[in-house]
Amino acid sequence: MPIAEQTSLSTALDLTWIRSQFPALAQTVNEHPNKCPAVFLDAPGGTQVPQRVIDAISDYLACNNANTGGAYHTSRNTDRMIAEARSAMGDFLNCDADEVVFGPNMTTLTFAMSRALGRELAPGDEIVLTLLDHDANFSPWKALEEKGVIIRTVKFDKADCTLDMHDLAAKLTIKTGKSTRLVAVGYASNAVGTINNVAEVVRLARQAGALSYIDAVHYAPHGPIDVRALDCDFLVCSTYKFFGPHMGVLYGKREHLKRLRPYKVRPNTDNIPNCWEWGTLNHECIAGIKACVDYWEELGRRVETGLAPSETRQAASLQEGRVKPEVTTRRAAILAAHEAIHEHERKMTEKMIAGFLAIPGLKLYGISDAQRFENRFEERCATFAIRIEGHTPLELATKLGDRGFFTWDGNYYALNLTEQLEVERLGGFLRIGLVHYNTMEEVERLLGALREIVG
Ligand SMILES: Cc1ncc(COP(=O)(O)O)c(C=O)c1O
Repeated sequence: MPIAEQTSLSTALDLTWIRSQFPALAQTVNEHPNKCPAVFLDAPGGTQVPQRVIDAISDYLACNNANTGGAYHTSRNTDRMIAEARSAMGDFLNCDADEVVFGPNMTTLTFAMSRALGRELAPGDEIVLTLLDHDANFSPWKALEEKGVIIRTVKFDKADCTLDMHDLAAKLTIKTGKSTRLVAVGYASNAVGTINNVAEVVRLARQAGALSYIDAVHYAPHGPIDVRALDCDFLVCSTYKFFGPHMGVLYGKREHLKRLRPYKVRPNTDNIPNCWEWGTLNHECIAGIKACVDYWEELGRRVETGLAPSETRQAASLQEGRVKPEVTTRRAAILAAHEAIHEHERKMTEKMIAGFLAIPGLKLYGISDAQRFENRFEERCATFAIRIEGHTPLELATKLGDRGFFTWDGNYYALNLTEQLEVERLGGFLRIGLVHYNTMEEVERLLGALREIVG
């Protein structure tokens, strides 16, 4: 199928190459009479993986399947592979390898960290959370109420689902003589797509003498993460949301990982980061994480060096006299990939929002004002929560599913948000999520299908 973006002179992504990397994208929905192509709009729930991730997982199991720390070939290979994956994730997040902790998923890592931090907290200490966040960055901290910790919650603006930064600053103010010990905030909302100003949140937290814990699970496929520039204390993400296997990753500042006391078994090392990793990890998936970062790197190198550009892109570069800078490091390649992704997602977002707003009875939650895109899309990513009068989200998801469009309905664990917006008892929202492997043509087809369903 021709990929529409190839005809656009301004896009830096080679969508044909990208889509060829993801075998799942070639699927058709066989129940449909015309065997229509599957359209993956379910990325916020988990993205598809490139072939190299699948190969790395199966190669590991075929050739190197062993536990760590053994004095033999496959065990040493396993140790080496894990070290390489850690270093790759270090480049993805811009931290050192020993600040990267692997775990089954973000939720498990966050519960573990809340228990460890809880050992330091006293009754009356305060934790600031937001009502915009996924519950995985809420309940693990709220659980500390049983130790007498006080939870303070930050509101969001119901008109556009942006975080109320004045409220956040006010919640940090020490009014009671007690101190805020931690601020836990999402980088981006997995329901409505709002991107929070986490740099400002971290600054405010630091000013108040509190630690910052950033949930970057939803943000990771959409924008570059730089924990050094953010200066956050902790940041968590899940590789299955950015084209890798089902695993979670926690960044912790070295000083905190060393100082805090994880709950762990006695024979486990006291050295970081392994003292934060419990039992035997999913080694095959860690092999997949390294391959996932390799994909990001190749994507970035292709964007910048034009290894396989379409002819139109070559022509465009010549016309504009653009000289492409060499990408010298893996981190630089990842950043280059993000820049091109950002541009592609922004264009799809503009088209999607304009199309939504033209559908009668459709309500889009979150930022919909095109003017706000002037600042390079810093406040929204390509995740859309909608409701359409006369149709429940489940009905819409089912009808779209029958036509080959994979979307979600419900609350996606952003429970405070759906409760605040009073849609929890109405089936939540229909969520449509785009990532870089989606195309303008898919956006057009989705909008057409919605118009057809609405009638
Ligand atoms: C924003 C956000 N935070 C946290 C999570 C939980 O991640 P995990 O499934 O890795 O525990 C999700 C999962 O959807 C999410 O979207």
